Amino acid sequence: MQKNQQQLKEEVAAAAVASLPDDLLIGVGTGSTVDCFIDALASSGKRIRAAVASSHRSAERMVRHGIRVVELSSLDEPLTVYVDGADEIEPGLAMIKGGGAALTREKIVASASEAFVCIVDESKLVERLGRFPLPIEVIQMAIGPVTRALVAMGGRPVVREGVLTDNGHPIIDVHGLEMDDPLAWEDRLNALPGVVTNGVFARQRASLALVAGQSGVRQIKASR
Ligand code: 5RP
Repeated sequence: MQKNQQQLKEEVAAAAVASLPDDLLIGVGTGSTVDCFIDALASSGKRIRAAVASSHRSAERMVRHGIRVVELSSLDEPLTVYVDGADEIEPGLAMIKGGGAALTREKIVASASEAFVCIVDESKLVERLGRFPLPIEVIQMAIGPVTRALVAMGGRPVVREGVLTDNGHPIIDVHGLEMDDPLAWEDRLNALPGVVTNGVFARQRASLALVAGQSGVRQIKASR
């Protein structure tokens, strides 16, 4: 019988938990796949030294499970691993993230971690980033100029209705960008004044992807 997307998320979450050693200092991302990961981590009995969350949503879920959540700023060492989902991931393990509006904190926690394990179902695998509208967190007053710059780059920007991030900023979702060089796009978008964070994760690409499909969970390792 075909597994549905929820079953694939649970399967990849369980595989990620099984791959982790005890006594970890762990970074935890945001989203429905990560929700499955948090639940699986809690029920695994694995010892976690402490966890840093990339959103209030994930922090609250972990606290409900009795997982010790600390602020990133309280740590004087890197996190061993960051585990998070993605909206798209390409063969070089660059990603689009931010569908859940947590991209800024996700990028910060990822950058403070020694490894990034991306957990996805196979619907997230793409040859080239850009089918999923690219989330960009912006300072409110910059919406006009950033929107015009994005149009000049060939995108179709749409302000996400009724959403502010955990940092209190709006999100612009950009349709129609095809990113054959994710690193160049990430840097180009970061250079726009008023952009807080863009959802291209090429500098903070994954070191390992766990991908759940109908025949099980496979690994894709970063080539560099
Ligand atoms: C949140 C994210 C998520 O990782 C991404 O949206 C995937 O979420 P889901 O696991 O629900 O498909 O970047 O900002």
